[in-house]
Amino acid sequence: TSMKNELDKLVGTVEPCKRKNFQYQMDSFFGLYRRYLMDNVKGSELNWNHVQPLDAQSLPQHSDFPDVPNPRDVINKLAVLKLNGSVGTEFGLEIPKSMIEVRDGQTFLDLCVRQIEHLNRTYNVSVPIILMNSFATDSETVQYIKKYRGHSIDLSTFEQSRYPKVFRDTKVPVPTSSTSSQKEWYPPGHGDIFDSLIHSGMLDRLLAKGKEYLFVSNIDNLGASVDPQILYHLIQTQAEYVMELTEKTKADIRGGTLIHYEGNVRLLEFGQVPSQHIEEFKSDKKFKHFNTNNIWLYLPAVKRVVSKRELNMEIIPRLDTIEVDGEQAETLQLETAIGAAIQNFKKAHGISVPRSRFLPVKSSSDLLIIRSDLFHEDHGLFVLDSRRYGMSTPVVRLGSHFQSLSDMQKHIPFIPKLLELDHLTVAGNVKLGRNVTCKGTVIIVCTDGEITIPPNAVLKNCVVTGSCSI
Ligand code: UTP
Repeated sequence: TSMKNELDKLVGTVEPCKRKNFQYQMDSFFGLYRRYLMDNVKGSELNWNHVQPLDAQSLPQHSDFPDVPNPRDVINKLAVLKLNGSVGTEFGLEIPKSMIEVRDGQTFLDLCVRQIEHLNRTYNVSVPIILMNSFATDSETVQYIKKYRGHSIDLSTFEQSRYPKVFRDTKVPVPTSSTSSQKEWYPPGHGDIFDSLIHSGMLDRLLAKGKEYLFVSNIDNLGASVDPQILYHLIQTQAEYVMELTEKTKADIRGGTLIHYEGNVRLLEFGQVPSQHIEEFKSDKKFKHFNTNNIWLYLPAVKRVVSKRELNMEIIPRLDTIEVDGEQAETLQLETAIGAAIQNFKKAHGISVPRSRFLPVKSSSDLLIIRSDLFHEDHGLFVLDSRRYGMSTPVVRLGSHFQSLSDMQKHIPFIPKLLELDHLTVAGNVKLGRNVTCKGTVIIVCTDGEITIPPNAVLKNCVVTGSCSI
């Protein structure tokens, strides 16, 4: 109850016209918080003996999907939503991540618009794009997309919930007013999409436009294109929820997977695995697939589960340390993930899709790969060069000198050719000249001073170390 009082006080600090929405968010936060306390008492630990990997039957293969008889009719029912809550901190930027330039002057947002414009032209439809912003990305995103006003594209945004961080020891909310500093609040994960779709009014607006299905993906997944065959599969199977999974490689060992658990299909996240089973979870023997976070939803079902309060997503607690009144304070935030909602929808299941539908850009090394000759851009979609078909994408590891965009720009002002690369490691103060080619396994490590790779160099299966200039 003391938490409830504190939240009521927060609501009291909001101007009356915005109070209803904020009150709703604080009530939802309180519900999440209560569930967290209850889980702590009764324990929410998974019974590993009941965890069963999905059998092939429960995971239909995309390659088996039939052609769509009348794609226009199917796509007409669709809207596309991009999760746009994050800022580009991993690239050293405080702007929305979606506003970072990916390639040739185009940002994640621009590429998404290109894709949908192309889709609309191809099928003569108008698929709406919706951006789910957080309080950290909303105003800059709204400003940015003004440039699309003249385009014939149905592009809109809404802001997801904002929850208060709480002090870890006293469990009192950190913010004392709705206008308290941004760092005292947090966007509560992409599981919040269900609540926010309804309470922003967006879901009803989509239904009114005749849109019944929603394709949701991370804005940084450049492979998440609209696939009419998947949508047709949803309609045919009457599934209210479909999650795209793809086969694991050694790089994806931490990704969540779908399991059978006590008669249900459920998401199993890395953080939920008991420590003695982590190796089993990471290997690709038992759990062969992982969640791409490309999710297809049937909108009337979203409305039903939210209004009946049926959603029961696992809570992901996160700890953080922030500065409050000049002192370091440990805080707790409770989040949920969209994947966890699969258990609350009818006929929900996973499908196995090709790797090309999962092309996330999480780091500067991902950007280097995407900007290189390994890929070309086709109407906002990145396509792997056909000479790489059947081979795995190269592994690129860049040291701390290359993490932020500006550092990368300084050290790698020209993107090297990587078409024949297997593995590249670059660490230390290294600078690449124009038109460098890397083939096979290339390791460049500068321990002291500077290494400059001259223009037009071709590096093949070699190690460059020390502080020399070659
Ligand atoms: P992240 O980039 O933070 O997560 O969010 P991740 O490391 O890929 O892992 P998962 O997918 O959460 O397991 C993924 C997407 O969700 C959005 C981000 O903007 C990004 O597009 N997101 C995340 C929100 O829109 N709101 C949130 O509260 C959290």
